[in-house]
Amino acid sequence: MNLLIMGLPGAGKGTQAAKIVEEFGVIHISTGDMFRAAMANQTEMGILAKGFIDKGDLVPDEVTNGIVRERLEQADIKEKGFLLDGYPRTIEQAHALDETLAKLGINLQGVINIDIDSSKLVERLSGRIIHRETGETFHKVFNPPAEGYNEADFYQREDDKPESVKRRLEVNIAQGQPIIEHYRAKGLVHDIEGDQEITAVFSDIEKAISGLK
Ligand code: AP5
Ligand code: MG
Repeated sequence: MNLLIMGLPGAGKGTQAAKIVEEFGVIHISTGDMFRAAMANQTEMGILAKGFIDKGDLVPDEVTNGIVRERLEQADIKEKGFLLDGYPRTIEQAHALDETLAKLGINLQGVINIDIDSSKLVERLSGRIIHRETGETFHKVFNPPAEGYNEADFYQREDDKPESVKRRLEVNIAQGQPIIEHYRAKGLVHDIEGDQEITAVFSDIEKAISGLK
């Protein structure tokens, strides 16, 4: 299965991606996670990306297209399929992805579009906490760790600070529509109501994926 998951910052892409990977065994490719790993390792690309990410801006297309293309070219992708999360995020990236997939002879089978009003997202992002050891994402109120939590074991993302969140939402609202239209024209989009419990969102996604060929 070869899929994209789309949605505004905080829509629940990463949360649902973890569940999709567990159930369907596809490879999760999150450009945000790749950039954060590069930033943590202070690679040249990570240092460059940090200048954009911390402000809430997009990393330039040529950098992002390059890392996604390199990942898609690896052999495990054809074996297991993929779930791209956070890419494409500009129409130019969508065209670059079309080209890469065509070259590799890979078909995209579906686009999961988590639809939620942006007014709900600031609260989601400001309460997000990430477990230092496992990288698992939770929310202080909406999805707290079952066993309770010790603040020191969790961190918050730099770009979840209010100024960056405002910019991220502006940028993604402006860039997102043409991308969805691009995939709608190909008949690939499955709209999923994002303003429901995490398990209910997943149940809708499962139904959409189960209907794919
Ligand atoms: P990226 O890491 O992709 O961030 P994003 O798109 O802003 O999305 P998030 O990861 O913040 O949200 P999410 O939808 O995954 O939500 P989550 O499941 O965590 O990108 C970060 C940055 O990297 C970008 O700003 C850009 O600078 C750069 N970048 C990345 N890709 C790029 C690209 N292609 N081109 C250029 N630059 C790129 O959920 C959020 C919170 O809500 C959590 O606390 C969760 O527990 C909670 N939650 C989830 N679902 C629910 C629910 N149903 N009900 C209640 N709470 C919920
Ligand atoms: Mg995410």
